[in-house]
Amino acid sequence: MIHKTIIEPFKIKSVEPIQMSTEAQREKFLKDAHYNPFLLSSDQVIIDFLTDSGTSAMSANQWAGIMNGDESYAGSSSWKKMENAVQSLTGMEFILPTHQGRAAERIIYSHLGGKGKTFISNTHFDTTRANIEFSGAEAIDLLIPEGKNPAQIYPFKGNMDTGSLVKTIQEKGAKNIGAVILTVTNNSGGGQPVSMENTKEVSRICKENGILFLLDCCRVAENAYFIKIREKGYTDKTAREIAVEMFSLADGAVMSSKKDALVNMGGFLALRDNEIADACKNLLIITEGFTTYGGLSGRDMEALAIGLEEIFDPNYLEYRIKSTTYLGEHLDKAGVPVMVPIGGHAVYIDAKKLYPHIPVHEYPGQALVCELYLKGGIRSVEIGSVMFGKYGEDGKLIPAAMELVRLAIPRRVYTQSHIEYVIETFNEILATAKDVRGYKITREPKFLRHFTSHFEKIS
Ligand code: F0G
Repeated sequence: MIHKTIIEPFKIKSVEPIQMSTEAQREKFLKDAHYNPFLLSSDQVIIDFLTDSGTSAMSANQWAGIMNGDESYAGSSSWKKMENAVQSLTGMEFILPTHQGRAAERIIYSHLGGKGKTFISNTHFDTTRANIEFSGAEAIDLLIPEGKNPAQIYPFKGNMDTGSLVKTIQEKGAKNIGAVILTVTNNSGGGQPVSMENTKEVSRICKENGILFLLDCCRVAENAYFIKIREKGYTDKTAREIAVEMFSLADGAVMSSKKDALVNMGGFLALRDNEIADACKNLLIITEGFTTYGGLSGRDMEALAIGLEEIFDPNYLEYRIKSTTYLGEHLDKAGVPVMVPIGGHAVYIDAKKLYPHIPVHEYPGQALVCELYLKGGIRSVEIGSVMFGKYGEDGKLIPAAMELVRLAIPRRVYTQSHIEYVIETFNEILATAKDVRGYKITREPKFLRHFTSHFEKIS
């Protein structure tokens, strides 16, 4: 059989210009942004791989849906469409619309959390951890050891360490566990998938101990595709059927719809339990909006309902996962230390390995993020000790487990030639790696410091 290129399974109907810039211009832009790409303005960026969140290109069908948005305060028909779409996917009865994922997180974790409570996840995403800790509870990550080694090939590096889960439940006492949360795919751990087998085991342990089991499901379609191609017994199932099965194992789900629901803004909380749903609805009304729109416009809900269907298109999912893999494998071949196997929504680079001469307290990931911007106008994000580092009582940095940089790929936005340009930029990054210096933080907030911290280059 002749191998054919996996092409983008869409044509482009509307375009958005990219502002080109020179390296000299970018030097100045970056200095003015205090060496934190979050503080750049988007027209200073050529390829924006900061996030796959809220950056999807909507389809013609979704844009048509926008015009059908019903903006009624109560009982909007667009809400009915969204509610139906989420119920039929999750099999859960109570659906609460929110303006994005963290709004749903704040609601559920402020209800379930509080001092003395523990939450356990494969890896809590940063906003998840922040919402849990803000409630006074603690958040523990129990990823399998394979998931912590960027160079180790393993099909489901997002899996939870179920042995440690059982042990932690015994130590803490089941009644003190607020919830167990599986993040699918595991964003902070490299966009790595969780297997159905692992989900079943986590579900079983939770049931046995009477603990609530939640899915952080913002990339559940991508996770389902990985199960389809990697897990025994799932080849002949559709990605949607696999996702439905995964939801059937959980008591609730939190979704940032800005990822796999292909919308620019939106989220939801889905629950089976009437009492928890009622308590959460109170919080929803106080802080987001009435139960039939939460934080969303009618048009947003319309687009979300359509996006949740489109995401499971087999041609789309094949193109999505294979094009992310294409970027990752080409970088790997060029000698860039990437996390393997390549995840679903992003390619993760091991900055500690790329810059072994930069110690962790000088943030090798931040150095790479800055280099990518300078050399190619590519914006990426550090997922290492800037994002997850803490200070000990002695004021010294307790580094994150890994120093990764994420190239998150917006859905349906960039073409093959954009990707080739990124690969070429990395050849320059490799050639100059030895000369790159670390950074120090000159200003930082208390929570989620990566968003707004200021940095200075260490000379
Ligand atoms: N959970 C996961 C696994 C996420 O990746 C995110 C967001 C959230 C929850 C929160 O959702 O942004 O809608 O409030 N991740 C984005 C990212 C920000 O870039 O990975 P949100």
